[in-house]
Amino acid sequence: MKLFTLFVLIILILIVITYCYVKKKYSFFETHGVPYLKPQFPFGSLQKVGSSIHMFEFLITSYNQFKRVGKIAGFYNVFEPIYLITDIEVMKAITVKDFNKFVNRGIFVNEENEPLTGHLFAIEGDRWKFIRKRLRPAFTSQRLISMYSKISRLGCKLVESIEKSTKSEKVSIDIKNVATRFTIDIISSVAFGMDSETLNDKNEELLDMFKEVIGANRPNVVKFLILSAFPNLAKILKIRLFSDKLSDFFAKEVGGNIKVRERISENPNDFLSFLIKLKNTASSSRKTRKLTLDECLAQAFLFFFAGSDTSSTTISFALTELAFNQDVQDKVRFEILEKTKGTKGEISYEALHEMTYLSQVVNETLRKYPPGFSILRTANEDYKVPDSKIIIKKGSQVVIPTIGFHYDEKYWKNPMKFDPERFTVEETAKRQPQCYFPFGEGPRNCALERDLALLMSNTELQNSSKILKLHQMQI
Ligand code: HEM
Repeated sequence: MKLFTLFVLIILILIVITYCYVKKKYSFFETHGVPYLKPQFPFGSLQKVGSSIHMFEFLITSYNQFKRVGKIAGFYNVFEPIYLITDIEVMKAITVKDFNKFVNRGIFVNEENEPLTGHLFAIEGDRWKFIRKRLRPAFTSQRLISMYSKISRLGCKLVESIEKSTKSEKVSIDIKNVATRFTIDIISSVAFGMDSETLNDKNEELLDMFKEVIGANRPNVVKFLILSAFPNLAKILKIRLFSDKLSDFFAKEVGGNIKVRERISENPNDFLSFLIKLKNTASSSRKTRKLTLDECLAQAFLFFFAGSDTSSTTISFALTELAFNQDVQDKVRFEILEKTKGTKGEISYEALHEMTYLSQVVNETLRKYPPGFSILRTANEDYKVPDSKIIIKKGSQVVIPTIGFHYDEKYWKNPMKFDPERFTVEETAKRQPQCYFPFGEGPRNCALERDLALLMSNTELQNSSKILKLHQMQI
């Protein structure tokens, strides 16, 4: 009986401690005078995210709810208070003017236990500055020009693959699947000199790894919430972001490739060779050290997954919109045919540059469906929000909902409509430029030059749209 009483007492004490802890946590925004979304135990403001709604919808709804109230609002990720920015000037201040106070994203990194998490997107402070600087030469337009012929050749394979599957009259295509395979093949080829051939249904293992990273294989929402809300606890408990299978696969495939290249001194002009150079050279004049093998693997990992998913998402949405908007599709096709007259359909790098309407289509796709639909930053120190009484507390995370700005009627007439005409030179000049930022903003924006990423999507999209008679297909 005594034991039972003790047990009940312990449970009661635990309940009271949890209650006090949660109550204190959930009073953060109230105490600091920030308008906020009411939290509910245990997931805070994200109860429905991942079950009945997507984060995308959550951010648009919250942005719309709070933009009239002020420049900044709050919500709770489990117990952690997160600031939500609803004003363009504050967005600019955080990402550009006061960037030094918001260098980090504050996402999960645990290099000790999981070296692959030490990639450019996640690492912090001086280490981020150092690696970003060292990687910069890998992301220039000169590099794309040298990759162009490989991308173009893979475009022809895409054409063949779609032609094969569209032989019957009424065919249904899982376009995200096709686009994913296509972009995996491109990144494998231009970055790692590998023929992955996922488009030809080979290398399903690679595709599986890719799906794990982007969360397409039964995403574990609870694990994700723990990692993002309690990173320190996750480190102590040695919770890993990725499976051992994925880490082993990457170390074996890419690590193995690095070893082979080092042994035979092979030096093709791709991202992997560039990384090998960083691994083996330091410059005392520029005070740079060599990169470790783990650092190289983590950057290769990011390059692979960040590059493939963003581009394939863009292609899929662009093609879906083209299928639903026959007039836009006709105009794109006309432009491609016009610019390739006399080249038997061959599209040169220069001709691609001249396809301005195609660029408008990609820009509008990235407005309506930005693959990176929010920007994350964490405050290094207490930060007073310009023209407001609110202080963002040191160590707190800030979310800038790109998607909210991209659908705001203040900047975009009829934002639900897919309308590439918004991106003519004249229309663009009429708008506040900062309301569109699919590649992020400030020194921590997408590492790939903006034009380069756009061009990559264009190259891929142009190859896809060339042959697709989208109105005949059910996408
Ligand atoms: C349609 C294509 C793409 C889009 C829309 C896109 C978008 C973004 C966004 C929104 C961010 C976060 C920026 C911020 O926080 O301000 C980002 C970061 C990044 N992106 Fe991209 N991206 C694309 C393609 C690529 C490709 C092809 C690569 C490389 C192969 C790449 C590499 C990176 C890297 C390394 C970062 C982290 C930068 C850092 O923290 O310093 N992206 N991207």
